Amino acid sequence: MNDQSHTFQVFPWNDNLVVGIPKIDEQHRVLIDLINELATQLVGDSSVELNRVFDELTAYANYHFETEENIWAPCFVDDEWFFNHQRTHASFIDDILAIKEQDNDRPLQQTVEKIVGFLVRWLAYHIIDSDKRMASAAITSMATRPPMARATTCSRSPSASRACSDRSPP
Ligand SMILES: [Fe+2]
Repeated sequence: MNDQSHTFQVFPWNDNLVVGIPKIDEQHRVLIDLINELATQLVGDSSVELNRVFDELTAYANYHFETEENIWAPCFVDDEWFFNHQRTHASFIDDILAIKEQDNDRPLQQTVEKIVGFLVRWLAYHIIDSDKRMASAAITSMATRPPMARATTCSRSPSASRACSDRSPP
């Protein structure tokens, strides 16, 4: 999507960020590309471009969180761990919009600098800590399901008693 040769890598991709679910890894890479693109736009003088990349990143983050939650949901039914994760996603969007709103009277570059710092810290921590643990539990539950049950049910290890149903129709 982006021409990496002209983009600052304030947040370089590395293998510690791999959670092991290809769709999620692919979307995390796009989010990181967008953060790097936003940082690159800081040196330019175009508030139009800065706003464009910021809006693109916010929209993509929303789309990604929805994808992730659809992957987790069948394996974490009525699970506080899942609900917490959902709340964290929602607060991320609220937080970046709040930073942008609060700093409305400052130069846009300063606001975006603050947002880029927040994004890098938040996303690195969220992927390495929360997403990786959830992906690992989801992968285990998918692998330990009996073949006949895989299409409809899963259970989260280590709590085998927590059975959950796939929301998708058979
Ligand atoms: Fe997440």
